[in-house]
Amino acid sequence: MDDAASPPRPPSAAHRSPAATGGGGGGSSSMTTISRHFFGGASSDEDHEFYVDIIENMQEDYGMFVWPCSIILAEYVWQQRLRFSGSTVVELGAGTSLPGLVAAKVGANVVLTDKSEDKEVMKNMRSICNLNKVNCKILGITWGEWDDPIFDLNPSIVLGADVFYDSTDFDDLFATVAFLLQSSPGAVFITTYQNRSGHHLIEFLMVKWGLKCSKILDGFSFMPLCKASSLQGNIQLVEIELDT
Ligand SMILES: C[S@@+](CC[C@H](N)C(=O)[O-])C[C@H]1O[C@@H](n2cnc3c(N)ncnc32)[C@H](O)[C@@H]1O
Repeated sequence: MDDAASPPRPPSAAHRSPAATGGGGGGSSSMTTISRHFFGGASSDEDHEFYVDIIENMQEDYGMFVWPCSIILAEYVWQQRLRFSGSTVVELGAGTSLPGLVAAKVGANVVLTDKSEDKEVMKNMRSICNLNKVNCKILGITWGEWDDPIFDLNPSIVLGADVFYDSTDFDDLFATVAFLLQSSPGAVFITTYQNRSGHHLIEFLMVKWGLKCSKILDGFSFMPLCKASSLQGNIQLVEIELDT
């Protein structure tokens, strides 16, 4: 990845504690922590509807910690919970999977996916699901590759937090998104991304893959202040659908 395309740094979340288990941390378990994310009410320790605990490891790769885009997308899922309840959700490049876990908590049927060869990330996803007592399916899906499991997903909502960071992957990512949306009429891709120089490429590729943007929001416009204050960056939330 080139430096200009580096994702924003992970937030220094206030509710972070050392993990009691090894989590997905492998040999660097000393860097494994658990961050707690509150939803509903005042989103605080004292006033919330539920929380999600995430096992993170700062020494491992990009899929092992919670990126700001993920916190923003997870909050959006919570605020749109009626829409998510009963839906079939696939999260692409899920990493620590916060948005997918919130979708599962509000009643969606969720499949969490990440790069097929990234076994540590997938192992960590399993540990996180167990820790939060949610039952999500976990699959290896590498963008632009067509392994058998992708043909049976038929999601009504596809999620992706901070998946637009390496422009060499954008075309493959859109190929996978377009395939998933075509497999399920009316489906939508909801993504949060750091607005960087790849913006024009994203617009170009949306047209190439027969997609259009149906909603665009400043990621901070709907965030409660208590969450927004620990995040930085120019993050947008975009809903994308087939341009029929
Ligand atoms: C910046 S991280 C974001 C992780 C998580 N969504 C979040 O926001 O906290 C990018 C994620 O995309 C995954 N990823 C990168 N390239 C991929 C590819 N070609 N196919 C599938 N997943 C990929 C990485 O493994 C990682 O989990």
